[in-house]
Amino acid sequence: MSSLSFIGLGLYNEKSISLQGLEIARESDIVLAELYTSYLPELSLGNLSDLLNKDVKILKRADLEENSKEKILKLALKKNVSLFVPGDPMVATTHVSLRLQAEKMGIKTRVINSSSIISAISGATGLQIYKFGRTITIPFSEFGPIPRSIFTFIKENERIGLHTLALLDVDAEKGKYLTIDEAVKKLLSDEKKMGHGVVHEKKLTIGLSRVGSNRMRIKAGKITDLLNYEFEPPPHSMIFPTKLHFIEAEALQIICNAEKEDLEGYV
Ligand SMILES: C[S@@+](CC[C@H](N)C(=O)[O-])C[C@H]1O[C@@H](n2cnc3c(N)ncnc32)[C@H](O)[C@@H]1O
Repeated sequence: MSSLSFIGLGLYNEKSISLQGLEIARESDIVLAELYTSYLPELSLGNLSDLLNKDVKILKRADLEENSKEKILKLALKKNVSLFVPGDPMVATTHVSLRLQAEKMGIKTRVINSSSIISAISGATGLQIYKFGRTITIPFSEFGPIPRSIFTFIKENERIGLHTLALLDVDAEKGKYLTIDEAVKKLLSDEKKMGHGVVHEKKLTIGLSRVGSNRMRIKAGKITDLLNYEFEPPPHSMIFPTKLHFIEAEALQIICNAEKEDLEGYV
């Protein structure tokens, strides 16, 4: 038998894998996991192995991006292979190319979904998911100024009345995760230097930490209110809301601790 199953790990820990995902992994000959596209701080690999009664081999970024033929596809040509991926497997990852390569080699593939940051933001904040526009990623500051395109996407989303989700850069292999505090400082200082006219000190912004876990912590307010706020440790994301429906505005106050005056001009 030959197959490659991409199984979502969800947002929290081994308990956020679907029962279908667990069943497929249990029946696989080989179980792999990549943990570099996001960060699941509360995942226990020991518990996962116990649940499956199998060893789980952790792959490096290079194993997926440069050596996937050797490290994954050759195995999946002869055996049933499961690959665990943080969140929902194909969301904000580049694994579709691996899936296509496998299909072209005659390997049957499937995707077992799980929770994703992309949809969890709606339950976490009360913002309506169909009112989100293009998602952006804010890079680490060592890569220089935040590209102009990031500011343009926020502006374009706002022009057509859509909220913007900002993912924050992650380099799990080096244990580096961009925080809300660092991202806010960088956005404000790049805005000051480059004059994009998008981010100002009173801009309504939501900071989200550890969404989906028992330690989730969220704060909506002026972007400067997020500086030094005691979020949980990463993973972190941010949202730049635009025009709010009155229920969204109520949710930001009740669920996300926004002050009424922070929402002026948005309702
Ligand atoms: C490249 S995306 C991968 C998304 C994943 N495949 C999914 O479906 O959720 C990783 C980024 O999503 C955001 N993220 C992931 N999990 C999160 C969480 N539990 N809380 C807040 N942000 C999260 C962080 O900004 C992180 O750097």
